[in-house]
Amino acid sequence: MSNGLPMSVPSPGLPPRIRIHEVGARDGLQNEKTVVPTEVKAEFIHRLAGAGLTTIEATSFVHPKWVPQLADAEQLFPQLRDISGACLPVLVPNARGLERALDLGARRIAVFGSATESFAKANLNRTVDESLAMFEPVVDQARTAGMHVRGYLSMCFGDPWEGPVPVAQVISVARRLMDLGCDELSLGDTIGVATPGHVSALLTGLEQAGVATQSIGVHFHDTYGQALSNTLTALRHGVTTVDASAGGLGGCPYAKSATGNLATEDLVWMLEGLGIETGVDLGRLTATSVWMAGQLGRPSPSRTVKALSHQEQ
Ligand code: HMG
Ligand code: MG
Repeated sequence: MSNGLPMSVPSPGLPPRIRIHEVGARDGLQNEKTVVPTEVKAEFIHRLAGAGLTTIEATSFVHPKWVPQLADAEQLFPQLRDISGACLPVLVPNARGLERALDLGARRIAVFGSATESFAKANLNRTVDESLAMFEPVVDQARTAGMHVRGYLSMCFGDPWEGPVPVAQVISVARRLMDLGCDELSLGDTIGVATPGHVSALLTGLEQAGVATQSIGVHFHDTYGQALSNTLTALRHGVTTVDASAGGLGGCPYAKSATGNLATEDLVWMLEGLGIETGVDLGRLTATSVWMAGQLGRPSPSRTVKALSHQEQ
């Protein structure tokens, strides 16, 4: 462990390589109390790319009043043009958002739906049906323009207003989201209440409903410290796309009980230990999160960032 990495001991039945979908700059920063300067965001994203992350969610083209922290999308996105080794998906809820993303040359978008009515209303000012109807032309137009489309589905396990969410309800909305033509489905545990058996039940159900495991990503918030166990469960089901946030930043301004995402460093530590390739340089990533924590004025909640940055001192 002198090189800041765990001993590698592979475990059978796991994928050889994982794609990390880094959400720190979007999910992480959307929830900050103070607005992070655009230049700091741009440097953050450059550093993440420099650490070897190849999918970095950059920002959201949502209504600026709904998410003021990301209201600088038009200023930020052009500052990322020189990044060549990573793709930079952006969140887009509707036609106006897609128009803004297309104007700036974005190549990957994500629409974001909800498995519950309460969160659809709180987050999008729409019912589940109305939000899917809002996404339909967006997905169509984006696909016609040759873009890659991710479909997020929030509240896949529990909802702060409705409590536990039935697996069948999640599968039904997931199926409808995929039927719109999304290339990828990201299963959101928005408030971090999932546990491994629940994850397994949902993935099995989705498989039976004909949603290909290769098209599924998992997006765990870490409220109860379950994100890593849930991720390992998903890997055992064959999932190879995992969302994570550098330093464990994150949350959702429209779901008060949401805390940070699974920290990318904690994920990389586990994957390194399992001998699973990620292409990420853990030292550079940790240094980035320590730097970002300095910008935000508080330490990173990631256990791995804490351990490795103490080790470096
Ligand atoms: P609305 O108020 O119903 O909007 O909000 P509207 O369609 O009635 O339009 C009202 C005005 O807003 C119009 O302007 C539109 O042009 C403008 P006016 O004609 O009155 O001058 N407008 C826009 N302006 C800029 N960009 C846009 C846009 N759209 C409309 N894209 C809306 C509906 C969807 C816009 C709003 O609810 C919204 O922006 N919501 C975003 C909420 C959000 O970003 N939440 C966080 C991301 S989701 C998340 O974090 C979960 C996730 O991480 C997974 C997980 O953890 O589960 C992904
Ligand atoms: Mg999230």
